Amino acid sequence: LRDDGIAQINQATDVNEITKEIKVNLLGKKGPITQALRGIKDLPVEKRPEVGSYANEIRDEIQNALDAKLTELENKALEAQLVAEKIDVTLPSTPVAKGHPHVIQSIIDEICDMFIGMGYEVKSGPEVEEDKYNFEMMNLPKDHPARDMQDTFYITKEILMRTQTSPMQARTLEKHDFSKGPLKMISPGVVYRRDTDDPTHSHQFHQVEGIVIDKNITMGDLKGTLEYLLHQLFGNKYDIRLRPSYFPFTEPSVEADVTCFKCDGKGCDVCKHSGWIEVLGAGMVHPNVLKMAGVDADVYGGFAFGLGPDRFAMLKYGVEDIRDFYLNDVRFLSQFN
Ligand code: PHE
Repeated sequence: LRDDGIAQINQATDVNEITKEIKVNLLGKKGPITQALRGIKDLPVEKRPEVGSYANEIRDEIQNALDAKLTELENKALEAQLVAEKIDVTLPSTPVAKGHPHVIQSIIDEICDMFIGMGYEVKSGPEVEEDKYNFEMMNLPKDHPARDMQDTFYITKEILMRTQTSPMQARTLEKHDFSKGPLKMISPGVVYRRDTDDPTHSHQFHQVEGIVIDKNITMGDLKGTLEYLLHQLFGNKYDIRLRPSYFPFTEPSVEADVTCFKCDGKGCDVCKHSGWIEVLGAGMVHPNVLKMAGVDADVYGGFAFGLGPDRFAMLKYGVEDIRDFYLNDVRFLSQFN
């Protein structure tokens, strides 16, 4: 019985065979060993210990053989599974679509890098702004007619969506400690105007404000700075010119133009019929702006400018509709990756 049982166990090839059939056949209630152990009570008393211990011994041996075979089969199954499910981690994976900065953000980053290189700080300010900073401290009192130049989304009488990044001039001037050195700051961000959206207007767009205040800053410094900026962005072959203009917070005020050029996505060239493209507003900071921010306008002065990255992106890439930047159509945006 023992040899036969152990032979059966050794021939078994799968776990089920061991745990169900063979185990039940050999050690189950109706199996020969259980029967033998049950039959002991019918034997003469002096034979019982001998037969009993022999039957137990066989049962233990069979049990051990079963356990050993079971472990062996389980290990084999595990090994087979490991081989079958092996993953080659060195295989190239399926490519995952990666995002990239929005074209407007890239232009803003480019402009910021340029000014950081010239020692400016970059600051951001609130889009929900006080009338005080957006207008009053920018030399635009409540009844000033030039407020109409910037159609405004008011939230309350005193709170509005900023129409320009210029309030950051007042906010930084107010805090700046001139005993520690000049103020050189740029501030990029989103601004809002109550315009009807069309190819050249969006109720939400971007500006980058710049301001430099120190002793002895001249209009020549402004022109040099703008020329450097525009040459970096568009290329050295374009000229820039300053044209008189009006902003309540600068005096004198100018608009900067670059030589007319056209881009088609592949490259840009000077327009066939010569001309100029207006690209930004600037000027020498008005003494009232300095005074209202607590700066001594007899000692300090400087320039400020405000430019529109949306317009720059349109010029640079030949985009004809500003709204394309805000529709989030990846087919459009991924061109600028
Ligand atoms: N804030 C002005 C505008 O939005 C631009 C500007 C900024 C002009 C700084 C002069 C100086 O039109």
